[in-house]
Amino acid sequence: MRDFETMRDAGAALGIENPYFRQHDGVAGGRSSIGGRSYVNFASYNYVGLNGDPRVAAAAKAAVDRFGVSASASASRLASGERPIHAELEAALAAHHRAEACLTFVSGHATNVTVIGQLMGPRDLILHDRLIHNSVAEGARLSGARRIAFAHNDREAAERELAAHRGRHGRVLVVIEGHYSMDGDLPDLGRFAALVRKHDALLMVDEAHSIGVLGATGQGVAEQCGVDPSLVDIWMGTLSKTLSSCGGYIAGQRRLVDWLRHTSPGFVYSVGLAPPLAASALESLRLLQGEPWRVARLQANAALFLRLARQARFDTGTSAGLGIVPIILGSSLRAAQLAAAAFEGGVNVQPILFPVVPEGAARLRFFLSAEHTTEDIERSIAVLAAARDGLATLKAS
Ligand SMILES: Cc1ncc(COP(=O)(O)O)c(C=O)c1O
Repeated sequence: MRDFETMRDAGAALGIENPYFRQHDGVAGGRSSIGGRSYVNFASYNYVGLNGDPRVAAAAKAAVDRFGVSASASASRLASGERPIHAELEAALAAHHRAEACLTFVSGHATNVTVIGQLMGPRDLILHDRLIHNSVAEGARLSGARRIAFAHNDREAAERELAAHRGRHGRVLVVIEGHYSMDGDLPDLGRFAALVRKHDALLMVDEAHSIGVLGATGQGVAEQCGVDPSLVDIWMGTLSKTLSSCGGYIAGQRRLVDWLRHTSPGFVYSVGLAPPLAASALESLRLLQGEPWRVARLQANAALFLRLARQARFDTGTSAGLGIVPIILGSSLRAAQLAAAAFEGGVNVQPILFPVVPEGAARLRFFLSAEHTTEDIERSIAVLAAARDGLATLKAS
């Protein structure tokens, strides 16, 4: 607690307003009202603009009217039964991933923790990308398996680890993300899938930031890379981003899903997904599939943002420019100062500071949305460039 308080107090002493826990007055999309002022908003995962869509809200309200707010007033689906909306959502998600079956959980983070914790054990090995989400690392820790991180997106580094350690372990799980949220880049899925087959391992792909973002129709990284989705053993996703709800899921073989349904603690000992959340995710998925222009608009916006940011001489790292673009600034202080100056200029963006990224890699992270206009993006880059130049002038004087 003391360490945390020291860091927080240092920020306050430098006159930097705390950029976290900002209160939004309404729906946060391409724009958001904060404290009564409208901002161009790059800090939400409303990638294709479905959060706030009246059809999604109507589906949630209808589910409340039919089933109530809670799935079962707090018992698990196994103990107190299901609602048809659970099965409908799971069938739609399974079809989306071209998988046999799917199971939903009440949180994306909890999905990774409980599924990895249940699937792997002390004799096993978990290999994951160094930039993997915290929920995967926590699940790996819970499982007691040996855990090795390989260099980001480096298939050859993963191969070296497999060659060196495969023989000493029972099962081996390789975990990657479809679209990395800190850098906005993607793995070469086909090559990872081939590697995993060669070494008799399992491949798990976290699609939290891929659904609705990657591929011509937003199907995810398999569509983007032109890879047969059945080459991935475990698809994981969240409902909290493109699908404008809350919760997580696993899609894969029916045997796997059936086993998780009966054994994974985060499912068996936790409440079922609330009906309005299941209904809003299902309606969002239907709208995503029926309105592919949303994905095209998001990707065009991200490409424009990336091009203008580069033109303005910002370091955008390895971003593919499909939905997420970082502006890498180096020090945490610089990132915090630029975020504060951007906010002054009407642009809401979150700084990512040490220890979330190594010091030297602090950044502002821009989540694009289909709702952004060309003018929003042009103005935001202009605000950022002016803020950067203003900070440089201040430092020089
Ligand atoms: C890659 C990844 N996996 C899992 C999660 C957890 O999902 P949720 O926030 O829906 O619990 C996140 C959340 O940001 C994420 O980025």
